[in-house]
Amino acid sequence: MTKIIVFTDIHFSVEHLEREINPVERFEAGATHALKYNPDVDHIIITGDLTHYGDVPSYELLRESLSKFDCTFELMLGNHDNRENFLSVFPETVVDENGHVQRVIDTNTHRLILLDTLDGPPYDYPLSHRGMLCDKRLSWLDTQLASAEAKRCIIFMHHHPHDAGFRAMDTIKLVNGNEFYDVIERHNTVQHISFGHIHRTVSGQHRGVPFSGFKSTVGQMPMIFNTMDFHAETNEPAAYGIIDIGEHGITVHTEDFELTDLDQFL
Ligand SMILES: [Fe+2]
Ligand SMILES: [Fe+2]
Repeated sequence: MTKIIVFTDIHFSVEHLEREINPVERFEAGATHALKYNPDVDHIIITGDLTHYGDVPSYELLRESLSKFDCTFELMLGNHDNRENFLSVFPETVVDENGHVQRVIDTNTHRLILLDTLDGPPYDYPLSHRGMLCDKRLSWLDTQLASAEAKRCIIFMHHHPHDAGFRAMDTIKLVNGNEFYDVIERHNTVQHISFGHIHRTVSGQHRGVPFSGFKSTVGQMPMIFNTMDFHAETNEPAAYGIIDIGEHGITVHTEDFELTDLDQFL
């Protein structure tokens, strides 16, 4: 069994520390909770939108926050991130041969593939809020799937690679999702896709591949499918995801960690 904790869309910002939702406090509460109740966790992945504005001081704030925890966080990029600023603060991060922040983690049974779907530079907003896997990144993905040999694969990415039902968010999904699915279909080894970006719990399957998305640790997408405001957010309890990889399958949980005091059950 491999247990993976997934945080997404933590949106650190030095400018948001006085807001109703303090992104640092929310994330640290979640990370503390996740580690306390899941001491058997194998990997902790944060699937992008590490910061809100992609600025160096906010990445430094993140680095300081992560240093409070005695574990490794696998950091990924989202549309609110800036690859160059991120790497200037986290220079030890593994990148691929083209400088994209994507890599694999091999377990005994599975290959975890962490993709970089950030559409930049140039960071040309609002266009850059959409996701993109350029030919180099698709080729890299193809290579990682081909070399996985007997291992089954799980893909982690920031953007959802297909429509998810929220009109606004679907305008900034991965724009070349069909090409992405063409690549993974060639190999038939991908068992699950995990993404963030939507700020809402969602699950299903697309082109036969199961997927799940998790809530943010800051604001959540209102359950109004037709709004065209992709910045719309509501202050609901935050969550993180738990993905259990077993011998015969994968189980996905979400934990709204602010709702219940679990100590009463210990
Ligand atoms: Fe986000
Ligand atoms: Fe995003």
